[in-house]
Amino acid sequence: MTEAAPAEERAKILQEQREMRQNALVDLKPYFVTLDDLDGPIDWSRLFGNENPVEIDIGCGKGKFVVDAAQEFPERNYLGIETDFGKGRHGARRLQKRSLPNGRILGGDVRVALDRFIKPTSVADFDVFFPDPWWKRRHKCRRLFTAELVEQMITALKPGGHVTSWTDVEDYFEVIAALMDGHPSFHTLPTPAELQPADDTDYRTSFERKKRQAGETIHRGLWQLTVED
Ligand SMILES: C[S@@+](CC[C@H](N)C(=O)[O-])C[C@H]1O[C@@H](n2cnc3c(N)ncnc32)[C@H](O)[C@@H]1O
Repeated sequence: MTEAAPAEERAKILQEQREMRQNALVDLKPYFVTLDDLDGPIDWSRLFGNENPVEIDIGCGKGKFVVDAAQEFPERNYLGIETDFGKGRHGARRLQKRSLPNGRILGGDVRVALDRFIKPTSVADFDVFFPDPWWKRRHKCRRLFTAELVEQMITALKPGGHVTSWTDVEDYFEVIAALMDGHPSFHTLPTPAELQPADDTDYRTSFERKKRQAGETIHRGLWQLTVED
């Protein structure tokens, strides 16, 4: 595992900020669209041009997972949803540069997206990597992984679909596990193993890299929607 020196890390952040400013001027459609661009529920086959399974990365940040996975698994479609348009556009620019047809980023609040724009039983899998914990009482309404989000994911998932969630915040993982373990609609699958990264890019998300390089323990959960008989 390599840890970037502070000067190197600062240079990387400045470079990313420069790219974000430049990206703000680039037309990124169809790689980046916002909820305001949509006029109704998303038709996956129109968005991606195929009928392949769709995996949604909730709070995708700068889209590392969406870009890497779209590249590695061309037979699946990946949609990142991100409220911070600067970060979302950063990921979309990387998809655009690689001309990846199976990766898209939607700018907006995932709760609104699930409420109005994602069709029921249309999503293969959800990922919620490193959601912000928002512990302070006055910030609690911003917390993402809640009972309401769980019900929204259940509505959107296809039978047998998965929810993956990772976090470095142990107390938040307990909240997540309490919502998911024992939920009548899910069963808990074995904890995914922690893989040793081959290099600095070999992490699932930017936050996984940041937290593991800082020596934090990562808590990982995987649940599967029960298939009704
Ligand atoms: C701690 S970051 C993790 C980013 C990425 N998943 C990773 O692992 O590197 C959490 C992300 O969730 C986004 N987010 C928070 N609330 C959201 C919401 N309601 N809808 C969509 N994205 C949200 C934030 O803007 C932020 O980019």
